[in-house]
This record gives sequence, structure tokens and C-alpha cells, in this order.
Amino acid sequence: MNIQSLLNEKVSAAMVAAGAPEGTPAAVRQSAKPQFGDYQANGVMGAAKKIGTNPREFAQKVLDALDLGDMASRAEIAGPGFINIFLNDQWLAKQADIALSDAHLGIEKQDKQNIVVDYSAPNVAKEMHVGHLRSTIIGDAVVRTLEFLGHKVTRANHLGDWGTQFGMLIANLELHESRGDDISMELGDIENFYRESKARYDEDEAFAATARDYVVRLQRGDAYCKEKWEKLVKVTLEQNQQNYDRLNVSLTPKDVMGESLYNDMLPGIVEDLKAKGIAVEDDGAQVVFLDEYKNKDGEPMGVIIQKRDGGFLYTTTDIACAKYRYEQFNADRVMYFIDSRQHQHLMQAWTIVRKAEYVPETVSLEHHAFGMMLGKDGKPFKTRAGGTVRLADLLDEAETRAKALIAEKNPDMDAAEQANIATTVAMAAVKYSDLSKHRTTDYIFDWDHMLAFEGNTAPYMQYAYTRVASVFAKSGVDRDALDGEMIIEHEKEKALVAKLLQFEEAVKSVAREGQPHLMCSYLFELAGLFSSFYEACPILLSEGHTRQSRLRMAALTAKTIKQGLALLGINTLERM
Ligand code: ARG
Repeated sequence: MNIQSLLNEKVSAAMVAAGAPEGTPAAVRQSAKPQFGDYQANGVMGAAKKIGTNPREFAQKVLDALDLGDMASRAEIAGPGFINIFLNDQWLAKQADIALSDAHLGIEKQDKQNIVVDYSAPNVAKEMHVGHLRSTIIGDAVVRTLEFLGHKVTRANHLGDWGTQFGMLIANLELHESRGDDISMELGDIENFYRESKARYDEDEAFAATARDYVVRLQRGDAYCKEKWEKLVKVTLEQNQQNYDRLNVSLTPKDVMGESLYNDMLPGIVEDLKAKGIAVEDDGAQVVFLDEYKNKDGEPMGVIIQKRDGGFLYTTTDIACAKYRYEQFNADRVMYFIDSRQHQHLMQAWTIVRKAEYVPETVSLEHHAFGMMLGKDGKPFKTRAGGTVRLADLLDEAETRAKALIAEKNPDMDAAEQANIATTVAMAAVKYSDLSKHRTTDYIFDWDHMLAFEGNTAPYMQYAYTRVASVFAKSGVDRDALDGEMIIEHEKEKALVAKLLQFEEAVKSVAREGQPHLMCSYLFELAGLFSSFYEACPILLSEGHTRQSRLRMAALTAKTIKQGLALLGINTLERM
């Protein structure tokens, strides 16, 4: 049930009947304060201005034409021409009953789109570090949300699996193999293997020459180099998959569409851009000059798509990649979750994509940028020694901290359950602390806050869920088999039910904006309203239809919190 869009339709119709042109937005929003009703139509004034009439008079006409049926108990004009709408209790209760009985919480699957989501995208032969964490977590929450709404989603893990660094990596792998070293051990610490390869490359001229030769051979598709390259890719993927599985991220090896996938397209792209007059030769390189971007001297900026030595660039790959996604998956929308420092890179690639008409304007290419994860000192998150934090180490520390916390809270619980709760809470805490922040800003990584049981945190939300679940555990009633119906008899009940019915609006806003923090805020507000309801309206001590109604409200709350957290990739516990 999407109250907002239903009201938008009805108010728009009334505006047209009152003389506004077809398609004038009604701009219905949730009201900020109860005295303004549950929803407020803000578009009336703008429409009146457009057609040159007095806003309040026009608002009266809209009100006269407005048919809200049994949805609302009243609607009234406020201020210079707002319309405040007060929803009807019976109607709300009935919609909530429908949501409770529906596996999909009354949310219709609709306007199915093909959506490609580019996220995670770590690099081969490098550990995933905290920088990849945000992309992985935010992207996965958005993917789950889009699928819940019925869209066909393609997960695209744009693995960094190509580039000149593979020459030295292959040469180093060869060296270890020729010495009969235990390769799985050497590659077990892939970051160290990378550092070692780099050191050899810098210090040993013969090694460097071999490495350079291997780059060229790999690019030509040489079987020997390809086999070694595949080994490196495979090891990296296995290590990443462990992180994904631990974090309950839905990516699998089949979602990998690495940079190398586009290799074969690159020469054709450059030829085509030259033929279209978009790329020109400049000092031996192939360059696209973009009027949209100026350099320091105010001249159009040159974006290199092929170097003098024939090599292609990260930008060339992203041009091919956008084209591929449109053609291969018939994408209606492509969402990229990449940190904000790559914004200019993407804008340049896509400007070229549009000029070359590889992707029509009707298909949206969206950069969902995010800021950095900072330490408590406000500087980029680093280990004490100043290195990048390995994701696996971060997750280990989250578990250790959660274990101590849970043991302290539940000293009598058996160890196995404690451990299970601690793992669930730890992963939830890492994810939720990221998801609950406005994506575009940098944020401070703070263990104490993310593991706190108060505030907009994972432990608070998970605990809120167990509180609702405990009502059913105590009552002995099966929350999936409740008969009766909801009746709104108290203002706290109304507030709770209205919020429950706004779940669909929260889901849709996450899908639209690619901002999971909107779901976190929604769930946090919902949990708060449940607490107030729980205090003011006894459930198990009430009787008859009131008790049954309140149990149903609690059941719908549990179902909504569980589903909302699931869309964020966060598990719930029946007790903790
Ligand atoms: N591998 C890149 C990095 O670690 C991110 C790739 C993002 N996706 C893309 N289509 N460029 O920075």
C-alpha cells in the first residue's frame, strides 16, 4: 500500500478538475506534525500561481473536487494554500490487515525494469580493504531492495583484473613455482605477494624485463601467461567470497564481470570513435577533447583513450562497459556504487558514451557516489601503523568486540548461542553503521557507537525486533496464525499503523535514490513508535478484540522490521 502515490493521484485529479493543466504535480508528502494531518499536498499553491488565480480560492476548488472515498476522515486548507489530509482509522486498520496477511506486505511488484548494479569491484592480487566495504554493503542493500520490488537486477562486480601490474605478478608466480614453493601459501597472503612482486620489479632488471614481456604476451592472449593470470584471479575471488559470505552479501563468483571482459571491445571502440570524429590523434595517442571539461588554461580537456604504445585505459574500459551493459542486458538503468573520487572519471566516460550514442538518453547512467570512511581522528581509516585496514581483520575485530558485549549482557547463556548472537550482531553492526549514514558524506568509523544498544544502530534495531518477538514467545500465540482484525482505539495505535503502512514509501525511496539510510531512518522511527505504543497500550494484559488487534499490530511490526532489515542484508534474532 503506497498511501503517498494514491493521494498524489487523487489530489492531481482534483487539481485538474479545478482547472489546473493535466500533469501538474500535487506534491503530496508525509506531514511533519500531527496537527497538519497525516499527509499534506504542497502542489496546490504552485498550480494556482501558474494559472493565475488566488491560491486559497483554488485550494477550495480542489477540496470541493477531491474524492478521497473512505481513505480520509477529513481534508482541510491550511496556511496560504496547503491541503492537509487526515487519514481514516478504519481505512488504515483495514490496509494494515491486508499487509499482515500478505507475504509481500501488501507491496505490489510493478514497473519491472532491467537494472544493472555495479558494486564492490575490488582488485585482483589485492586484499579487499575498507574502501571496498562501502560499495559492497550499500550496493547489496540497493540490489535486494530493487529485487523486492520486482525489478530484474544484474549484479556486476567490476573486478580490477587487468593492467600492467599482471606482468610482475605472473613473473613472480613463475619464480615461486620454479623454486617448488607452496603456491597456496604464497598466495594466501596476496597483499604480501603483490608487495614482493613490486619490490622485485623495482630492484631486479632481468625480472622487470620478463614482467614487461609478460604484459604484452598476456594482452596477446598467450596461453602460458593466461593460465598464470587465471590462477591469480581465482585465488583473489576465493578470498573475496569469504568476506562476502561472512557479511551476508549476495554476490557470487558468477557476478564477476571484470575489466578483462571488455578487452576485445576496446580496439573497435577506438576505431569507431575515430570514425565518428569524436577521437583524434594527439602526439601519437588517441584522445577525445571534451568541451564540457576545461583544463587549467580554459581549453577543452583531453581524455586519452589509447596511449602511444597502444595500451588502453581505465576510461576506455568504462566506455565499453556502459555500452555492453546496455546492449547485453537491455538495461533501463545502470547504477554505479563507486567512491566520489572517481566521479570525474565516470562523467568523462559517459559524456563520450552519449556522444557516440552507445547508450540512449532514456537509459540512465547513475553514479551513486559515497564518501570515505574516517578514523576517530577524522583522517582516512588506517591501522595504527598507518596501513590500510584489511577487511577480514576489521570483521574479526567486530566479532571479538560483540562477543565480549553479549557475554556481559547474557552471562548465563550457553556459549554456542552467545557466539551465534555475537556473529550476527557484529556483521549487522558493521553494515548498519555504514548504511545508516547519508551515503555521500565521509563518516567516522566508531566501534562504540556502532555496537551501542541505544540510538540508530544495528544492536538497537535487532533488539527492537526481539522485543516484539518476545511478546509472542510470552503469550504462546503463533504470530503467523492470528485471527481477528485491527481496530484503532488509541492515538499511539494510529501512529504505529500509519507508519507501518509507510513501509512501501521507504522501500521505493531507497530504490529511487539508491540511499539505504532512508530505510534505516524509517525502521528507527518505526521502532520508536512501537515502543510508545507498547508503553501506552498493554498487549497481553488487554482482552478480547483489543488484545487480538494489538497482537496483530505487533505481528505486523515484527514482520516489517524483519523485512526491512533483510532488505539491508541484516539478519534478525528471535532472542538476544
Ligand atoms: N576497481 C576499482 C577500484 O578499486 C573500482 C571499479 C568501479 N567500477 C567501474 N565500473 N569503474 O577503484
